[in-house]
Amino acid sequence: MKYFRLLKEGIDPAPLLTEIAAVDAAFDENRGRQEKIAVQREAKAIPLRGLRASAIAGRQRRDVHESRWTTGSQRFPLARAFLEETARTLGGELSRAKLVCLPPGNRVYPHVDRGEYYRARDRFHLVLRSSGSWMRAGDEEVRMRAGELWWFDNDQEHEACNDGDTDRIHLIFDLLPLRPEAAFGSAGKRVGAISSPADRPEPCATAP
Ligand SMILES: [Fe+2]
Repeated sequence: MKYFRLLKEGIDPAPLLTEIAAVDAAFDENRGRQEKIAVQREAKAIPLRGLRASAIAGRQRRDVHESRWTTGSQRFPLARAFLEETARTLGGELSRAKLVCLPPGNRVYPHVDRGEYYRARDRFHLVLRSSGSWMRAGDEEVRMRAGELWWFDNDQEHEACNDGDTDRIHLIFDLLPLRPEAAFGSAGKRVGAISSPADRPEPCATAP
């Protein structure tokens, strides 16, 4: 596989799910992503890190590199700690991040994540709750399971659907590689995400 890579399995999602459940209607507060981004209209999100509005300086939002913790992220200290630790382990600078809920039967429609921000970064998914998260990038498809951390290439056209009967909750985040040749290993797009003949992506033994 070229466009997906499973970096780690067996991450316990329970503490993060408990943290989310403790916040009343956590996924219903912020509807910006649903309303502004057509392909995301069926997904609900909790922004944890977003672009730094004061740094836009006339650029399109998709070209803005600077990011910061959202005020609401203070209610999710475990998610913040996971993101900081993972960024350290993978050798990347933490960029934008969000918790995303795709309810049963809902989809994220085919699209490419465009702009200067994404071109420079790698995209990761930690699966918190799922009955098997189907995702496609380019001509490759996977089923991500709860407790798995994945890299995928969002330069490719991609889509997702929840054909299960439970909410599909992912922690989705971007890292700017600081030492791409050393740290991301075979995960990052700038070091190639080397193609493998395997039908399924292999766990990365050197991942965190
Ligand atoms: Fe996307």
